[in-house]
Amino acid sequence: MPGRPSASRRTVLRGAALTPVAGLGLAACSGGSGGGAPATPTAPVVLGAESEVAKGGAELYQDQNVVVSRAEDGSLKAFSSICTHAGCAINKLDGTTLVCPCHGSEFDARTGKVLRAPATEPLNALTVEAKNGKIVAGPEA
Ligand code: FES
Repeated sequence: MPGRPSASRRTVLRGAALTPVAGLGLAACSGGSGGGAPATPTAPVVLGAESEVAKGGAELYQDQNVVVSRAEDGSLKAFSSICTHAGCAINKLDGTTLVCPCHGSEFDARTGKVLRAPATEPLNALTVEAKNGKIVAGPEA
């Protein structure tokens, strides 16, 4: 009896749907840097002078694993700069594009959205405010 073509097509679709799960297996990547630093702020943390983040620009604070961007209207946004793919600390900001050193995922520092795979989840949003001329980011918004 000949195989039914519809069955094999379904198998292919199934395989594609399962692909994102494979990303979980890469979580071990995050253990390598071993700094013991918290992944994201758990309490409000002062990042730097408010003037460091220009309108339409972004600033990466690697020590705190936070990226801050400022919209054209002057409002601030902050995201955790821990890659949502396998937990690497992102160490490169090119304009307003964050580039993960581990597998090349890219994120928009203004929205947290993924610009390039393998990451599929946006960066975690943090609270942020300007206090006495300083940028202060807090735990997840
Ligand atoms: S951890 Fe894999 S791309 Fe960032």
